[in-house]
Amino acid sequence: MDFFPTEEQKMIQQMARDFAERELKPRAAEIDTTRLLPLPVLKAMAGLGMMGMNIPAEYGGSQTGVVSYSLAMTEIGKACASTAVTMSVTNMVAEVIHAFGREEHRRTYIPRICSGEYPSGAFALSESTAGSDPSSMKTSADRSGDEYILNGSKTFITSGDIAGIFVVWAKTDKSGGAKGISAFLVERGTAGFKVGRNEEKMGQKGSPTNEISIEECRLPRDSLLGREGEGFKIAMMALDGGRIGIGSLAVGIGLAALEYATEYAKNRIQFGKPISSFQAIQWMIADSFTELEAARLLVLRAAHRKGKSLPFTREASMGKVYATETANRVCYKALQILGGYGYMKEYPLERHSRDCRGTTIYEGTSEIQRLVIAREILGGNLV
Ligand code: CAA
Repeated sequence: MDFFPTEEQKMIQQMARDFAERELKPRAAEIDTTRLLPLPVLKAMAGLGMMGMNIPAEYGGSQTGVVSYSLAMTEIGKACASTAVTMSVTNMVAEVIHAFGREEHRRTYIPRICSGEYPSGAFALSESTAGSDPSSMKTSADRSGDEYILNGSKTFITSGDIAGIFVVWAKTDKSGGAKGISAFLVERGTAGFKVGRNEEKMGQKGSPTNEISIEECRLPRDSLLGREGEGFKIAMMALDGGRIGIGSLAVGIGLAALEYATEYAKNRIQFGKPISSFQAIQWMIADSFTELEAARLLVLRAAHRKGKSLPFTREASMGKVYATETANRVCYKALQILGGYGYMKEYPLERHSRDCRGTTIYEGTSEIQRLVIAREILGGNLV
């Protein structure tokens, strides 16, 4: 057992930290207010290898591995959660294409993602009536000669406004439940595939969240990812990896909130002393950091297992649920330490608290993570 990152992992963490401090932290409040991510910043991140961290170099990836990805994601999340979720979904899409795409898909799309030519990828699974239960989706894909014709709609699609490539799930067999679902690659601008409004959200406002309407959208037969009927498993496997990203991001938000509140507590004088000298504040700081460290270790363990090609479904869900719920608790306490100032927009705590809230919801709610963990344990995976 070794709790220390390698020299290379430390270097990547430092690189992400420097970039985040320099390029993201100063812009995060503006990104939140304007609801716009600066595309040159995403391009610069791609240039540093952050958009294909688990992708081999031959496809343009930086091949730095899953642990480095988690460490980098935490640094980016610490500075700007909107940017971090974009990085997360983009890496996830690159990995899905790498794992399940044909060689032509890999050669065409992955370099565009990794180089930043596409500012983002998008993962179009959820629908208005199929969120936690994607197998009940209604979007259909009917075969017609050498084409599939897709009809339906998607909801809450991260990066819809900026993605160059979408992985879209649809039913090729309407009576087949989970086994009737297939995954397709759809390029932005494809006829019949229309990105709709950018939803107004509570947090992570710079990351666009769109509706998508799909009407008579004709795709060549080889747009299929994997085999027909394999789509549900592709989604689940991709989400296992995605959950490591979101857990890492949440740790970053929690650390940012705690760091700010700790500095504040050392300087805020009440009753003639810094409030950091009061046990009530010290305990909040101590508990927050302890829980964040536990969260970080859980998430890194999932990342380590994924990197070693070991099963990691349970670990990713444990990391996600614990990190995202911890980060919410930490944001609550950090805001409390600032008192009235924490509640003001002028200070970053209210943004961190809003940004953090969604992490327990997207890429599988906390309730779904617990369901996954419980199923694994009940199925005998207790080691
Ligand atoms: N890896 C591989 N295969 C898996 C798997 C995994 N992690 N989980 C399930 N499967 C397989 C099962 O083995 C099963 O295959 P067989 O029939 O061959 O045995 C098949 O998939 C169906 O599995 P279940 O019966 O377990 O399926 P279920 O309907 O009970 O659902 C669930 C399981 C875990 C609840 C799943 O539906 C789920 O994860 N729901 C949450 C969806 C989600 O996270 N949505 C997030 C939206 S995307 C997003 O937020 C991205 C973004 O934009 C930021």
